[in-house]
Amino acid sequence: MKYKILEALYEANDYISDESLGNMFEVSKNIICKEITELKQEGYNINLVENKGYILREMTDILNSFEIKYGLETKNFGKDIYFYDELNSTNDKMCILAKNGAKEGTVVIAQTQSAGKGRRGHIWKSPKNTGIYMSILMYPNISPRQAPKITLIAGLCVCKAIRKITGIKAVIKWPNDLLINGRKVCGILTEMNAGMEKVNFIVLGIGINVNTNSFPKEIENIATSLKIEGNKNYIRKTIIQEFLKEFEEYYYKYIEDTDFKKFVKEYKNFCSTIGQKVNVISNNSFSGLAVDVTDDGELVVEKENGDREIVFSGEVSVRSASYE
Ligand code: BTN
Repeated sequence: MKYKILEALYEANDYISDESLGNMFEVSKNIICKEITELKQEGYNINLVENKGYILREMTDILNSFEIKYGLETKNFGKDIYFYDELNSTNDKMCILAKNGAKEGTVVIAQTQSAGKGRRGHIWKSPKNTGIYMSILMYPNISPRQAPKITLIAGLCVCKAIRKITGIKAVIKWPNDLLINGRKVCGILTEMNAGMEKVNFIVLGIGINVNTNSFPKEIENIATSLKIEGNKNYIRKTIIQEFLKEFEEYYYKYIEDTDFKKFVKEYKNFCSTIGQKVNVISNNSFSGLAVDVTDDGELVVEKENGDREIVFSGEVSVRSASYE
């Protein structure tokens, strides 16, 4: 009921009397008053003005399922949302939901994670109410080899969403970290359940530092947030909505024929790794100059002797040589 009232206030964009709200939902003014009190406790800035009624003031950074769904322009993605104040990891929760038959496009979001997972066993710090910690479920009919490209495409879509909503020129560090001024603002962890030939499901986990004011000493030189870079608070739901809209379109385009070529030009435009010296860390570590990204999304690295190596995402860690 309270979110129906909230929706009415959003739609009206003006004062509504308690009487009108009561008539709308066929309840007493007392019930309206009680529900509005609850909305205020959640942080909504609702004022009551004598002889006029209730009005919802400016948009604040309140995140819940209603906020994400309201104004969401997608067909499937984000239609089912599981929202939590706290989880160990949104990816872990999504894996359980997937095994219980959750639909494609289901989204899990938490205000904080007690054991947020990064790649290669790292921890993803997830301070409460300031970041986006979200996982999306997909059942693509593709082979496991094609799956890493979904992560590349997701990185591209987060990059586009951040640019569109904040105006900040985030860039992609191949394969799918997002940086602003050389510091990481977003990381993506994809987990896959697959047989030899076929993917069963993919959980795409995205962490974005949005309104974080500062980071612990050990990561302050490598991490940043949209707030630190843009000097203001951002509304997390608008970034989530923009990302889901963009990513849904790109994902369905990709799984039509699993051809990354149609995205590569746009990907390369945003990719700051091209033209940088990199250290490729794997069983066979080496250094060189990143010169290109192939139509398959692989990084082309030119060694000092002129030999070119193709680096596959998912297999290696690429560090900007200046960090070493
Ligand atoms: C990385 O860059 O190392 C990947 C970080 C991925 C973090 C996100 S936050 C939401 C989802 N749940 C997790 O436990 N991890 C991912």
